[in-house]
Amino acid sequence: MSTQAYNFGGIDLELHVGSDVFEPNLTTRLLAETVDIPSGSRVLDLGCGIGPIAIIAVKKGAGEVVAVDVMETACRYAERNAALNEVADRVRIINGNLFEGLDGEKFDIIIDDVSGMAEGVSRISPWYPESIPTGGHDGTAPTIDMLQRARAYLKEGGQLYFPVLSLANHQRILEVAREVYGDKLESVASKWVPFCDEFKENMAEMERMKNEGVIDYISKRSRHLWRLEIYRAAI
Ligand SMILES: C[S@@+](CC[C@H](N)C(=O)[O-])C[C@H]1O[C@@H](n2cnc3c(N)ncnc32)[C@H](O)[C@@H]1O
Repeated sequence: MSTQAYNFGGIDLELHVGSDVFEPNLTTRLLAETVDIPSGSRVLDLGCGIGPIAIIAVKKGAGEVVAVDVMETACRYAERNAALNEVADRVRIINGNLFEGLDGEKFDIIIDDVSGMAEGVSRISPWYPESIPTGGHDGTAPTIDMLQRARAYLKEGGQLYFPVLSLANHQRILEVAREVYGDKLESVASKWVPFCDEFKENMAEMERMKNEGVIDYISKRSRHLWRLEIYRAAI
């Protein structure tokens, strides 16, 4: 374990990081820059990993954050990181699957970041050590489950933020999101991201997954780019 300094969305934080847990990446950064946290609000951080989004939510003004991860190790890191950033009194950490242990609870803001990348890409990527559950074959299962259940945990007027990556079957995720949230769904941030070295070194596998319809990316001359988009849904 080591400690690293980050600045996400203008907010400084220090995090204990390790090779057995997810290290905050560009999705963390775009989420941190995009989410609006009303002062004093109740926030749910789903798929909290080592805790960056929960800490940022408090620093942006949340009154209370519940942070959930299915990996016990990640939860232990999140606890230590909440303490390191002096927000432990406003962060409750739960080791569970999605909404497990939250029956009857309601939130102003849900920030979902459960694994949303296809299994094949996750294992090639530098972000997912073997121990971290991925999004399954086409990267959709945890996100679709979350989309279908999140409404019940939002207060009236509450908002759900979630990333959609073209490194999963994003069309399928968006179909479900539209079914559940209708016209109260909007894209609030997006960027094209160049392939990292690991993707470039595994082009045959990336092409195979693209041809199978599991992932999507664009190619411009010798450059390949995937799409990261943050959506906000309201009820
Ligand atoms: C992409 S990482 C994001 C971590 C963190 N939000 C960040 O930005 O560093 C996804 C996290 O979701 C967790 N996860 C995957 N499936 C989950 C589920 N069904 N319920 C709760 N957490 C889950 C993984 O263990 C992992 O820590």
